[in-house]
Formats: sequence, C-alpha cells, structure tokens
Amino acid sequence: MLKSLLKTAFYRFGYSIHKVRPAISAGSVEEKDQGRLRGLIHAGDPYQNFPLADYPEDLQGWGSQSPAFDQLLEKVKPSRIIEVGTWKGGSAIHMAGVARRLGLSPEIICVDTWLGAVEFWTDQTDPERYLALKCRNGFPTVYYQFMANVIHRNCQDLITPFPQTATIAGLWFRRYGVKADLIYIDGSHEEDDVYADLISYWDLVRPGGILVGDDWNWDGVRIAATRFAREQGLQVTQLADKWYLEKPAA
Ligand SMILES: C[S@@+](CC[C@H](N)C(=O)[O-])C[C@H]1O[C@@H](n2cnc3c(N)ncnc32)[C@H](O)[C@@H]1O
Repeated sequence: MLKSLLKTAFYRFGYSIHKVRPAISAGSVEEKDQGRLRGLIHAGDPYQNFPLADYPEDLQGWGSQSPAFDQLLEKVKPSRIIEVGTWKGGSAIHMAGVARRLGLSPEIICVDTWLGAVEFWTDQTDPERYLALKCRNGFPTVYYQFMANVIHRNCQDLITPFPQTATIAGLWFRRYGVKADLIYIDGSHEEDDVYADLISYWDLVRPGGILVGDDWNWDGVRIAATRFAREQGLQVTQLADKWYLEKPAA
C-alpha cells in the first residue's frame, strides 16, 4: 500500500522507483551448474534430433575468420565467451577452433534473434542478408543453418545458442550473475543499439577480460564505441578489423 502510494507520487514527478537493473535474485550460476550455462538456458539438448541432412554447411558471414580472434583468445585464455550477433556461426566456430588449438575449451554462448538487423530487411534481392534469412511463411529460418554449421564442425560441446535479443539476454546474464572473459559484440550496428549493447555487456566482462567489437568503419559502431569509452575513461584499441576495450585486472 505504502509502496504503491510512493510509486504514484514518484511517477507524478517524472521519476521511477523501479530498480535500474533487476536484482540478482536467481543466485550465481557458478554455484548452480558447475559454471556452465547451457542447462540454465535450455531444458534439453538443443542439438538433439537435429535434421542435419537438410542443411549442408554454409558459413557465409562477415569478419568471422579475423586474426584478431587468435590474438585476443591467446591473450585472455577465456573459459567463457559471450557472442552477441552470431548469424550462421562463422565467428563462434572460428573462436572454438582457435580455442581448441590453444588447448582451451571455453563455453561459447551465442546470443542472436536470428532475425537479422535493419540492413537485412531493406533489400529483398540481397543474397547475403534478406535472401539468406531464408524466410518460411514470412519468418526467418537462418537459426537452423547456424545449428547445422555447429554440428558439421563438431562444436556442439562448446557452442550454446541463446535465441534472444541482446537486451533480454543481457538482463538474463545479469540476473544469474554471469561474467565472461571475452565478449564479442557484432549485433545491430545502429548507434543506439551498439551503445545499449555496451551498457548491457561491459559490466559482464570479468576483471582482466576484453570486450571486442566488429566493424569500426561503420559510423554507428565507431560513434557509440567512442562515446562509451570516453564516458567510462577507457581506451579503444583497434586490432585488424576489430576494436576492443580492456577491463582492468582486479
Ligand atoms: C553481422 S551479423 C553477425 C555476423 C557473425 N558474427 C559472423 O561471424 O558472421 C549480425 C547478427 O546480429 C543479430 N542481431 C541484430 N540485432 C540484434 C539484437 N538486438 N539482438 C540479438 N541479435 C541481433 C542478427 O540477427 C544477425 O544475425
């Protein structure tokens, strides 16, 4: 009763008394599932009974094989990677391969709606975007191509899909107290979206970890990353086709 009266008064004056971030009420994942997230995201094995024969390998993507991944994985030696923006899995599968060569077996959580970004819906003749969404009854099916690629490359043990928006997945990670050593941001490249992703995901980087992004030459990406770094007192480093921010060690 008192809470609702207070809420009404706050709203009247243009304030909200909602928590800015949801409480971490679900407990820490590190305590719950030997530190692995798959069992918390999926009730069963997402790869079980997958119709692999229907999807020959197709790893079309952008900036997926960048040498920057090799250097950053070697530097950070991650035990958990979060990727925001996975598409057909090119970068996630490449990181899995690099990790294996380094003797690492990180859990790689792939956050994507598999619905494309704005530029995927503006040219119905674009074979790499609109047509590659492979809409069935008006709804994209590219997620299944991603799953097939992971299986073709035998990366099911490392890669876990999280089919959600960057924002909701970010809230979920926060709720479970999830941190990652390496976070790759390659979702929407619109300025507001990139800035929102940086706000959501920077806090999830472990001390000593790295947040890396794609496409420095996109205006939206560059402007958002520069603004975020300035506000946080961070240095943006460019590496090959990527850029990154380092979280100071604790
Ligand atoms: C440039 S592609 C990712 C390329 C990929 N990393 C590769 O190696 O090819 C961008 C992806 O971000 C996803 N995406 C865009 N906006 C998103 C959002 N708000 N939340 C989740 N995924 C998003 C799209 O569905 C698309 O698959």
